Amino acid sequence: MKRIVVAQTARSWERAAAEEVVAALAAAVTENGRATMALAGGSTPRPVYRRLATRLRKNVAWDKVEIFFGDERCVPPESEESNFHMARESLIEPLKLSSARVHRIEGELDPSEAATRYGAELGRVVGDPPRFDLVLLGLGEDGHTASLFPATPDLEPAGRWVFPTEAPVEPRHRLSLSLSVLNLARRVVFLVRGGRKAEAVARVLAEGEKLPAARVHPPGGVVLWLLDHPASSKLDESLVGERLP
Ligand code: 6PG
Repeated sequence: MKRIVVAQTARSWERAAAEEVVAALAAAVTENGRATMALAGGSTPRPVYRRLATRLRKNVAWDKVEIFFGDERCVPPESEESNFHMARESLIEPLKLSSARVHRIEGELDPSEAATRYGAELGRVVGDPPRFDLVLLGLGEDGHTASLFPATPDLEPAGRWVFPTEAPVEPRHRLSLSLSVLNLARRVVFLVRGGRKAEAVARVLAEGEKLPAARVHPPGGVVLWLLDHPASSKLDESLVGERLP
């Protein structure tokens, strides 16, 4: 099931995004005694993570949440380019999350070795196969998501839950969850803001192009596209399920 929600302001977008994360984690903890989440990288999620770590910090039993990453750049964790670095600054350190429950992709290692180690961690902690309670994703202007790009030859290589990919921009070497893992998720939330994403949003959601982001539709899960007004500006109104003031 896919739902498209448009928030009219930056503030309502951030609030809706953070509240969606809280609701998904709380439901998983209530149902299973824990929650597993894969974080999105890039810059868009930063204010959402900050809101989770401040205003909403008491709304989640963070000691029961296992945090993973949907993808990573092949750079050290202290690099400004690292998705882990962004999450550590905006969410992990402010919440003082235990490192035992934060499972980063070791971007500083050889990509194949990092993929093997992260794959083992996925199987050990999330399960075999790894079915996340919540996966947060972004959208690139070319329709990529996580580090699954239009030029990636195979978005779900057999037997690989996580694998090395090549980005068209620096840092080129990446590691990404495979499409098959994304499509196992119970809940996927795309966090998309900004007019520069409007074209990609329309191509993915309206034209049904087989871009990587368009192929994320877990048969046993729910996909929410949470857009701000500029990002939705080229989307046919008939596709918008709800508008937030
Ligand atoms: C990454 C992300 C990538 C990101 C999009 C959007 O490693 O960069 O996984 O998929 O979500 O490129 O990036 P922005 O949020 O910076 O626009």
